[in-house]
Amino acid sequence: MKKPVIVVGSDHAAFGMKEFIKELVEGWGYTVEDAGTYSRESVDYPDYAEKVAVAVAGSRHKRGILGCGTGVGASIAANKIPGALAALVHSPRIARLSVEHDNANILVLAGRPYRKKEVEKIVKAWLGSKFQGGRHLRRVKKIKAIERKYR
Ligand code: RB5
Repeated sequence: MKKPVIVVGSDHAAFGMKEFIKELVEGWGYTVEDAGTYSRESVDYPDYAEKVAVAVAGSRHKRGILGCGTGVGASIAANKIPGALAALVHSPRIARLSVEHDNANILVLAGRPYRKKEVEKIVKAWLGSKFQGGRHLRRVKKIKAIERKYR
């Protein structure tokens, strides 16, 4: 199967982690689109969450990796975009389940602080997992229905 394009984005608080992830996944053969930010200068995480989520929701061939200090603000903002299924993850196990059960198309990570080895394990688990469908599809469809109902 063709590798998805990975859209990465972060605010200043997760800039270092975003740069690390970019190099990591490029090293694994993925094409990366960098939605910013491009320095440690203070910015607002919703701007980058929006960019990543719009890119991912608009394409079946893209998946997103997003960061802010805690990961909380970025995940809340990303999930405002219809079609975004952004999961704030802190372990490789939850990374795997966020795809297998929830079909998460955006992985959100806390960048302050982050540990390279742990981030690597989480990203690897997330990219290596597949949505299982079945009863989980029924549930994800219900999320989409909620989205349509309140649009
Ligand atoms: C920025 O200082 C910080 O508030 C932001 O990165 C994030 O943690 C918000 O959820």
